[in-house]
Amino acid sequence: MDIIRQNLGENSYQILVDEDIIPKAGSLAREYLPNTRQAFVLTNTTVGPLYGQKLVDSLEKAGIQTFIYQMPDGEDHKNFAVLNEVYDALLEAKIERQGSLWALGGGVVGDLGGFAAATYLRGIAFVQVPTSLLAQVDSSVGGKVAVNHPKGKNLIGAFYQPSLVLADLAALNTLPEREWQVGLAEIVKYGVLAGGEIWQLLVNHLPLIKAKDPDVIRKLVVQSIKIKADVVEKDERESGLRMILNLGHTIGHGLEAATGYKVFRHGEAVAIGLVGVARLAARLGRFSQESCQQITSILARLGLPVAVPQSVQRNNLAQEILGHLSRDKKVQKGEVRFVLPVEIGKVEVGTVPQKLLEEIVRELCGEAGK
Ligand code: NAD
Ligand code: GLY
Repeated sequence: MDIIRQNLGENSYQILVDEDIIPKAGSLAREYLPNTRQAFVLTNTTVGPLYGQKLVDSLEKAGIQTFIYQMPDGEDHKNFAVLNEVYDALLEAKIERQGSLWALGGGVVGDLGGFAAATYLRGIAFVQVPTSLLAQVDSSVGGKVAVNHPKGKNLIGAFYQPSLVLADLAALNTLPEREWQVGLAEIVKYGVLAGGEIWQLLVNHLPLIKAKDPDVIRKLVVQSIKIKADVVEKDERESGLRMILNLGHTIGHGLEAATGYKVFRHGEAVAIGLVGVARLAARLGRFSQESCQQITSILARLGLPVAVPQSVQRNNLAQEILGHLSRDKKVQKGEVRFVLPVEIGKVEVGTVPQKLLEEIVRELCGEAGK
């Protein structure tokens, strides 16, 4: 078992990564959450039938009174209506202050479950059991929890750290192919951010990654978590450094918004965004052309889009993305701030000339020269 510690003073916790860790959840709960007598497992209608009973059995075997609740699957359900249903179920189960909420699923279940745990009875213990690759390498670590508002994604939320994270690598065996790719895009992001071992794995072992070799996937997951935990340790509430975790996300968010969140999975938009910032930095002479091409090639070989596919291209898409960028959360004094790679393993935050930004976004949308 790999154990990574997220150091955050009294909010510190352990992230445990292993195959078949869900059946050990009960004994791990006894060890890491000795005061918990009740567990409320929040999952969804896809993950629940696959792993829900295993988790419930393990917790009950450890003498913990356990309840399970399945929310509908999908980003569209990360909202107030479902959150209210979860509060109702928590109350009906009579979960007390010493109880714990276990989020079993991808980032949607983790984000909504974390917000429920943060607010129910002013906060109960929260355990993340991430089952998607994206949730294991990103959303289950760092304590950002939220629901969506009709006016935008993740607008209502909190920083609320879990008490424990159990990442079961065996659960990835049932993950649909597209969800693997979404998680791999975030892993490439960490590779560009940190360089070193994770980047070498991406450069040297792509065929093994595509074949889902268990040793290589474990290394990628563990390395990604370590990189994220290190950044969060230095800047838990995103007052500065944590922003680098948004590498590739600014253009990615613009693209997701301009296509109504219906066309691209988040990681696919991030892949296109990563190519965008690599090109921006290269054209500014701050990043090598060779590294820019290497990032593009790795993403493409992983099956991720590196530009807007022809089937999605349409008039004014670039203009709409640029419009969303100018309204982005990261705008300061009218200028969008980008996380730019300057070498593999090193990024800087800064603004870029508007004309160059427009040029690159047009290229990504297949509108160059139009
Ligand atoms: P998701 O939760 O929708 O999961 C993707 C799909 O995979 C779903 O259909 C889910 O049911 C299914 N699934 C999950 N695990 C499975 C398994 N083992 N076997 C079969 N199917 C499985 O999406 P996601 O990509 O995991 O997370 C995206 C969400 O995470 C977004 O809401 C995003 O805002 C949020 N997010 C949060 C943070 C954070 O720091 N809190 C970071 C990144 C993303
Ligand atoms: N996913 C970015 C963050 O956790 O800060």
